[in-house]
Amino acid sequence: MNDYDSARLLDLMAAQGYARVSAPEQADLIVVITCSIREKAQEKTFSDLGRIREIKRENPAVRVAVGGCVASQEGRRVLSRAPWVDVVFGPQTLHRLPELLEKRERTGRPQVDIAFPEIEKFDCLPAPCAHGASAFVSIMEGCSKYCSYCVVPYTRGTEISRPMMDVLVECAQLAAQGVKEITLLGQNVNAYQGRAPDARSTADFALLLEYVHDIPGIERIRYTTSHPKEFSDRLIEAYGRLPKLANHVHLPVQSGSDRILAAMKRGYTHDWYLERIARLREVRPDISVATDFIVGFPGETEEDFAETMRLIDEVGFDASFSFVYSKRPGTPAASYPDETPREVKLERLQQLQAVIDANAAQISRGMLGRVERCLVFGPAKKGGGMLAARTDNNRVVNFPGDPALIGSMASIRITEVFPHTLGGVPAGDAGAAAAGEG
Ligand code: 5AD
Ligand code: SF4
Repeated sequence: MNDYDSARLLDLMAAQGYARVSAPEQADLIVVITCSIREKAQEKTFSDLGRIREIKRENPAVRVAVGGCVASQEGRRVLSRAPWVDVVFGPQTLHRLPELLEKRERTGRPQVDIAFPEIEKFDCLPAPCAHGASAFVSIMEGCSKYCSYCVVPYTRGTEISRPMMDVLVECAQLAAQGVKEITLLGQNVNAYQGRAPDARSTADFALLLEYVHDIPGIERIRYTTSHPKEFSDRLIEAYGRLPKLANHVHLPVQSGSDRILAAMKRGYTHDWYLERIARLREVRPDISVATDFIVGFPGETEEDFAETMRLIDEVGFDASFSFVYSKRPGTPAASYPDETPREVKLERLQQLQAVIDANAAQISRGMLGRVERCLVFGPAKKGGGMLAARTDNNRVVNFPGDPALIGSMASIRITEVFPHTLGGVPAGDAGAAAAGEG
């Protein structure tokens, strides 16, 4: 989400005559886009601002703006901790940065604007500028789920969907610039309820996917993040009808224990999650499933954790973004008694990650010999005239190919499996395939 916001901010500032520089020391304006999902991310804001203070000492003319969720949560308090900051703006007011900077110059005083002016932001941003063949498109902002551990509903506001036509126009503008893969973004994309093109009804996420699927030039559709509770039958059925939907889903589960899921206020159970995945696999038997876990939520016992490990075995996750629970001020869970020692939590996290890594390695080995539809995104890091492409299940494949393939989809036969990458050859190239395998 912050990547997307940063890209849109770059488009906006480019329209104001700014250009990106490669080091903060060269900048007239330094913008810090912050995250407060866990304490560590939040603290990074202030260590970054410490370094920026030194730059401003050398060059007092430089302007410093702080955006994102720490700005949203802390507001004016950012100025008391870092008085060298000129502008504080929130996730929903990033389009106002030029006017906030102007006001800062006019008044000589720092400016703070962390309001939630609904969806105005999108009407004030210029058309997106594509960088490569993949792009993000935000379809909804904020979250109304209020999971007991999470700051997002407070920092990004409640769920609000962009009108369907706005989303489709943005996708079409990107497709016209050569984008082949769109990732639809939102805190809970499957809660999408956007104004339909007839302007009278609302469209759900499954309908939006159908329309995006029809845009010429778009060849692969991803989305992030979705919520198990709203992983509807309609969405599952869409996987049967829409071949451009990537054969990969990121569906955060957080825990496998019903007791902990209830304390987290997730609104589903272990068995509900399993049932959703089973339905999805009826439609797409080989879909890869990634997830998020929070380990060591207040009150998590060995039995609760065993339930999480059981779920991991049952689903066979391909990847996870997993973290130890971090207490966030202002959230209900911050006051829950939490007696598990930190070492125990770290040990559980390691155990969980080891099993998921082993799963991922096994899935990689199973890909050997298969032909994968991949998006070729550039020259391979290791050079040697090789190209790099990404599979549906997010693995990088290095293969020999014509650089003209960069930015397009290609069928690649997997011939080698390494711990972090795959090797392949263009499919249909039988001679090279044999050489590659030998
Ligand atoms: N502590 C640890 N992890 C968290 N997440 C959200 N809030 C917290 C927290 N307080 C994780 C969840 C979510 C991901 C984006 O971040 O797993 O899915
Ligand atoms: Fe946070 Fe996701 Fe829960 Fe919303 S659904 S409150 S973003 S964890």
